[in-house]
Amino acid sequence: MKLAPSILSADFAHLADEVARVAPVSDLLHVDVMDGHFVPVITIGPAVVASLRPTTDLFLDCHLMVDNPGVHLDDFAKAGADRCIVHVELGDPRPLFDRMRALGMGVGLVLNPPTPVDEVLPYLDEIDLLLVMSVNPGWGGQAFIPEVLDKVRAARAEIDARGLAVEIEIDGGIKAGNAGLAVAAGCDILVAGSAVFHAADPAVAADEIRAAAADA
Ligand code: DX5
Ligand code: ZN
Repeated sequence: MKLAPSILSADFAHLADEVARVAPVSDLLHVDVMDGHFVPVITIGPAVVASLRPTTDLFLDCHLMVDNPGVHLDDFAKAGADRCIVHVELGDPRPLFDRMRALGMGVGLVLNPPTPVDEVLPYLDEIDLLLVMSVNPGWGGQAFIPEVLDKVRAARAEIDARGLAVEIEIDGGIKAGNAGLAVAAGCDILVAGSAVFHAADPAVAADEIRAAAADA
């Protein structure tokens, strides 16, 4: 299991320090990009990825909660993003996949809690990562929606049946108390924002989630 702290809940004024604290217990870093249209909130974009890039060796995974990801892919690649994750709710993602590959980035696809898993199954052979949202996107600190674990199990079965190397990641409301459930359902990567960065010691909190997941 891999842990991906989401910097959404970090102190943006001290981002490099916040990342450095969790880096020893992190496998990758989750960057939540929101445009105020696809979701109501505005967060950060390629400029922050570019600033972060020289401060860490961690894999920078950019979750694009934006209406028109295609126009931003070049900027994310230039900024040093290792992968972009695009929402299936926006329609045919194949042109975005092609662009991400051409730019040398990994390819991720994400679905929201109300979106049926059938929507992503046609694309499993073309992606590196399937992200299953366990909250409706827009804010950190929301409650985990356990029903999405059925979609994780269905995707896991399909990925294994097809012999694919696609990783499954889950995002939203992950804490030590449910990390084991997520891994047991078939998740490879757990995103955790508020549970890590709102803790007194983010590195300890990250380690606790990791330990709970390992017990699954
Ligand atoms: C939600 C974001 C999540 C968020 C998770 O829109 O995509 O990545 O940061 O935060 P927590 O772990 O606090 O639910
Ligand atoms: Zn996210």
